[in-house]
Amino acid sequence: MSLKRVLLIVGGGISAYKTPELVRALEKRGIGCRVILTQAGSQFVTPLALASLTKDDVHQELFNLTHEAKMGHIELSRSADLVLVAPATADLIGKVANGLANDLASTALLATDKPVMMAPAMNVRMWEHPAVQRNLATLRGDGVYFIGPDEGAMACGEYGPGRMAEPDAIAAAVEAYWQKVSAYKPLKGKRAIVTAGPTLEALDPIRFLSNRSSGKQGYAIAQALAEAGADVTLVSGPTALNDVPGTTMARVESARDMLAACQAALPADIFVAVAAVADWRPETKAEVKLKLKADAKAPAMTLVENPDILATIAQSGQNRPTLVIGFAAETHDVLAYATAKRAKKGCDWLVANDVSGDVMGGESNQIMLVTADGHQSWPEAPKAQIAERLAAAIATHFGVTTA
Ligand code: CTP
Repeated sequence: MSLKRVLLIVGGGISAYKTPELVRALEKRGIGCRVILTQAGSQFVTPLALASLTKDDVHQELFNLTHEAKMGHIELSRSADLVLVAPATADLIGKVANGLANDLASTALLATDKPVMMAPAMNVRMWEHPAVQRNLATLRGDGVYFIGPDEGAMACGEYGPGRMAEPDAIAAAVEAYWQKVSAYKPLKGKRAIVTAGPTLEALDPIRFLSNRSSGKQGYAIAQALAEAGADVTLVSGPTALNDVPGTTMARVESARDMLAACQAALPADIFVAVAAVADWRPETKAEVKLKLKADAKAPAMTLVENPDILATIAQSGQNRPTLVIGFAAETHDVLAYATAKRAKKGCDWLVANDVSGDVMGGESNQIMLVTADGHQSWPEAPKAQIAERLAAAIATHFGVTTA
């Protein structure tokens, strides 16, 4: 996956004046920027300069009605592939190291689930202060990657480490770090099967019973697992979506075909049932189009129950994947239904999505993850982000941490 966009957080140091050059250096490498400018940073570089260069709004306040309506601050923190703080001041470093969030920059840094890089810049004595060094050690332990600082003459007249690395060097480091992070495949060697989309249960060659499902969430999960290195088979009912690159696609129509395709793809380590499977099918499929209006009364239709794919795979004995994950679309009492469904289906995790809003077919999703250890509610996020977070949780379950 190529690095498309960085969230650049500009702290309040003299070297903030170099950030327009940094934006250009990133752009030269095909990397776009979305900017958060701190109050102090705006003393050294104007929002207008950064907005003109990025051709985007510059975000400055935590509670800004216009921005919050367009993109909430949590979403902003996850809207890029990577977060870069330049210049990273002693204040910003200290806040994040200690979990403080009292402005947009520190809130975004605590809320992000993306890799974070920092290019520190401060006076040499500040840099060498034990409190700053303690905070740096904490952040390194938390996985923050530091670029620089450089050693040299400083704006304050002193000499030593503390100068922000040069914009081009920062951009090069961002690119190199991204290559390392994206080459990290925590699920390498694992096999996964994902079901997605609706199933379609034919009544005759023209008519069918089905469920409403775009397939977007299931496809995003298949993609996230494949990007994390898993060998993925995506078993999909009819959708309007393109094949997911890097996966083995099995396109099916009915629930019975979907179950057969899943069973053919076993053994697997991970099974994720996202498909909206039709619970019932017409008992028989007519070979020719039925004349349903011929009798001038409502046609009778006998339905028979479809196999429960998730329950069948979850209870498949020796062949059972190590981690079986079900989905549940609920409109109310989400936790109670999700907990009961997890037990009934025999799956390890149940991802409940609240479909009381416009989730079906939409771009974002709000979910609750129910496991044997309890439940977590995840904030509403684009389906691709939900998928990445689920892939990261799966990797953690298998004992590998995501970079
Ligand atoms: N599922 C399945 N096969 C079926 C029905 C459902 O694999 N025949 C899977 C779905 O892919 C999803 C989970 O089971 O992961 C939940 O499906 P849902 O339809 O919500 O559950 P039901 O058991 O049908 O319960 P209800 O409709 O009563 O809520």
